[in-house]
Amino acid sequence: MRARLERDFERFKRELPNDVAGYIRGAYRIDLTARYLGRTLPHPIGKGSGQLSLSLEQLETDWAAGLAFVVLKTVIAEDPAGERSMGAWAVHETRMKVERRRSTSDREGWTVTWKGRGWDRSFDEYLALVRAAADYTRSGEIVVVPSVKYHLPRLGEPFRTEEYRYTTERLCQAWGGEELPLEKDFSPTLAGNELADERNQILRWLREVPGQVRAAAGSTPIRLALKLMNARFDDAFQLEMLEAAGSADALVVFNRLWDPDQGVAVGGFDLSERNLRVLQAARHSDVSPPPLIGTGNISSGRLIVDYARLGCQSVQLHTFFQLPLSEYPATDGTRPQRALHVLLFEPRDGLIARMLDLEADGLLERRDGELKFLDLPETTCALPRRDEGHEGHEEPSRS
Ligand SMILES: Cc1cc2nc3c(=O)[nH]c(=O)nc-3n(C[C@H](O)[C@H](O)[C@H](O)COP(=O)(O)O)c2cc1C
Repeated sequence: MRARLERDFERFKRELPNDVAGYIRGAYRIDLTARYLGRTLPHPIGKGSGQLSLSLEQLETDWAAGLAFVVLKTVIAEDPAGERSMGAWAVHETRMKVERRRSTSDREGWTVTWKGRGWDRSFDEYLALVRAAADYTRSGEIVVVPSVKYHLPRLGEPFRTEEYRYTTERLCQAWGGEELPLEKDFSPTLAGNELADERNQILRWLREVPGQVRAAAGSTPIRLALKLMNARFDDAFQLEMLEAAGSADALVVFNRLWDPDQGVAVGGFDLSERNLRVLQAARHSDVSPPPLIGTGNISSGRLIVDYARLGCQSVQLHTFFQLPLSEYPATDGTRPQRALHVLLFEPRDGLIARMLDLEADGLLERRDGELKFLDLPETTCALPRRDEGHEGHEEPSRS
């Protein structure tokens, strides 16, 4: 298997097989089946919302590359008069800078520095993209979902239900009447805003937004993922957020860190280390959140496995699809193709290699002859609570 992996890594540098998950299942007996918002995916790797999912051309490229899912750029909700309470997030900014970033733990990763925020074109243009997203999703070859930033009130203020209703209804219409999969973004720029100074205010949003969105959809069913921010409080508060968001159908954990000095959102290993630390703490607590989707510095199969072992059923990447071409070992193909190649086939740090490692360590067992991606959470036993004092737990890999 290891020799085969070395060979596949080399030969797929030019081109990946068409049905890459099917190939891996046949060749390695590894079943990468994953889940995102109630949908079954052939493998866990998707694209997070952002500047890389703004256009039909980008969707076409992602579909052709074989990504499992894509989240469209976040649109800012509006009411029938076109008023947007979160209008400050519809900033037009084209310049992005892809930079190396050293973490406080002294590990070098990448971050994208950008001053923009949400979708900056018209809502009608966004709805045209949502119609295409629905067609792609119906084809069964890729799942493409919209993302919204809705009104978030101060404590004591009501939610602007008109904004929720109008935006959600139009999205449902554009989707075509079937169940609408949707992400609601709580962004790092929101974490950096004075609106998010107050813990109880944030917890109220997380408790009440799912009900607001469902009520706004009327009779159209909705599957809602909340994409949680890294608030500017401690890890214990992140756990409170996971608990408060319990009525969502899924949680994306966790969006980028806010750097108050630079006034920008940042990623790299500071982000993945914090996210994994909080997810680990959640596993050892009484919190049992809805299904999780990982995000944050996912730049190797090793990191996919780290998130999966802590309960993430799929992962969404942004920065890794934006690196200089020289950073990918593949020699041909689009960035999503090159990214999939290294994430899956890298002989030491790729997803296949890491699942084989866990099997060799006796932590992951074959079922019906196959190693299964969705079995990965079972390879991380919950640590004993402090009052139990059992031995023999398995820490997730951090290296
Ligand atoms: C330039 C840029 C724009 C982004 N815009 C959005 C957005 O509009 N909505 C959203 O939910 N997440 C947005 N994100 C967050 C990404 O989807 C992703 O969750 C986050 O960057 C962490 O993953 P990464 O480390 O792989 O980039 C953006 C990220 C970047 C770098």
